[in-house]
Amino acid sequence: MTNTGRPRKTIVHKPASVTFAEASTLPQAALIALQGTSGKIEPGDRVLINGAGGGAGAFAVQMAKADGAEVTGVDNGLKQEFIRSLGVDHVFDYTRTDYTKTNARYDLILDLVCERSMFAIRRAVAPGGCYAAVGGSVRALVSAASLGRLLSTGGRRIGVLMVRPNKDDLLRVANMVVAGTLHTTVERTYPLEGVPEALRHLGEGRALGKLVIEIG
Ligand SMILES: NC(=O)c1ccc[n+]([C@@H]2O[C@H](COP(=O)([O-])OP(=O)(O)OC[C@H]3O[C@@H](n4cnc5c(N)ncnc54)[C@H](OP(=O)(O)O)[C@@H]3O)[C@@H](O)[C@H]2O)c1
Repeated sequence: MTNTGRPRKTIVHKPASVTFAEASTLPQAALIALQGTSGKIEPGDRVLINGAGGGAGAFAVQMAKADGAEVTGVDNGLKQEFIRSLGVDHVFDYTRTDYTKTNARYDLILDLVCERSMFAIRRAVAPGGCYAAVGGSVRALVSAASLGRLLSTGGRRIGVLMVRPNKDDLLRVANMVVAGTLHTTVERTYPLEGVPEALRHLGEGRALGKLVIEIG
């Protein structure tokens, strides 16, 4: 399994029991989830995953639950059942509910889409809690990095998570999959000529977890 950046430092053997399609979902999405949750959660913490029904979100939900968190997953209404199947405790449809306006406070927010204002997000972070922006527009990420510093008061840490591809974490997530403690979520695989259909499915907001394109 490879990742972008420094290939020799980020290649590990694919476990025999993991298919190539499953393995292809791990290097980016599972490392985002691992580095976004590992060592950041105490049992009973309230954790919100924004974008819970996507590639990284589906892994992050599982990892946060395994760490003993009470997990809220946010995504569109078509993915609610899927997100529940991952083990979340609460679900919000982002087209109907703005999680920053519910009065709930979270010990950890992992944000895969970064579409709310930093001021609104700060209200949803509990004192001593952490907010990590991972994905979204460049503008949103710059805002999270710059405004996040100013808004990191009351023990809160608000900023951007820069994911570091590395062999140890890749092996860790691969071993979790082999052990059955982490489940890959490949909704569908497509042949190369199926890319337009895959993109349509994605664009309609229907993709659950990961879509994989198989080449050859
Ligand atoms: N920080 C780093 O170091 C780093 C490294 C690699 C990648 N990244 C970035 O990290 C992100 C990884 O995300 P991913 O692979 O999980 O993406 P993904 O598979 O596209 O999942 C994103 C999910 O968020 C949902 N969503 C869209 N708008 C939303 C909103 N306003 N509120 C809540 N959920 C919303 C999407 O649903 P819909 O179907 O409705 O759109 C989708 O289910 C990407 O943006 C990638 O570029 C960051």
